[in-house]
Amino acid sequence: MSKQPIGIFDSGVGGTSIWKEIHALLPYENTIYLADSANAPYGLKGKDRIIELSIKNTEYLINEGCKLIVVACNTATTNAISILRTNYNIPFIGIEPAIKPAALQTKTNSVGILATKGTLSSELFSKTSGLFASNIKVIEQVGEGIVELIEAGKVYSEAMRQLLISHLKPMIEANIDYLVLGCTHYPYLMPLLLELLPKQVKIIDSGEAVARQTKAILEKHKLLNIETGKPKNTFFTNGNPDVMASLLDDKFEVSYLNF
Ligand code: SIN
Repeated sequence: MSKQPIGIFDSGVGGTSIWKEIHALLPYENTIYLADSANAPYGLKGKDRIIELSIKNTEYLINEGCKLIVVACNTATTNAISILRTNYNIPFIGIEPAIKPAALQTKTNSVGILATKGTLSSELFSKTSGLFASNIKVIEQVGEGIVELIEAGKVYSEAMRQLLISHLKPMIEANIDYLVLGCTHYPYLMPLLLELLPKQVKIIDSGEAVARQTKAILEKHKLLNIETGKPKNTFFTNGNPDVMASLLDDKFEVSYLNF
């Protein structure tokens, strides 16, 4: 059982930011990554469609023998993970915006959250926000257009720079000292965010915490791969493999799959 792969899916290439953290912490684990780029962005879709797509991705990964699935997409986690956990008998790890650490550490009592419309309007997000951030100002900003540019291979473009200037403006005006990245595509924006945000603003994403949680759950279920040979890391996309390959290192091949 332990040699079976960890399955990871996202609406597209963004979840590779999570895959990198998992691979760094669990270098001997076999993995299968599924990028549903043909259906990106999920963030503008209704809950039913997000659930339908999440089920499709999950069933593909289960049929490939995955022992655990990481839903490396905030929008799919906040809208579909409870249904996946009810329907399938393997562990699921989800990604939620790290609003709690930001709310606990803010000195200006003002934090920003950049996420998709689907995440910000979800019940799970409003519950988490209500629980941990009811006493501070939370500036919610829909990252409109960002996922589309990343999926088109335009992470470091002038169009992205202009989009971020406009998305960050209300947060900078509200004197935030923490920015929470609520979408797995957004860690790829780090160089631009560091350039555009005031120096005192700290940026939080959930990647490392998700990797630690994945390890803890594998240990709990005795599913860790105890073999230390070279793992098999497989990447599939129903979009453009070159875009995804450009975000990974050269060692990894990305294949087109019509799923
Ligand atoms: C999207 O597909 O809209 C973004 C994915 C995410 O929420 O992480």
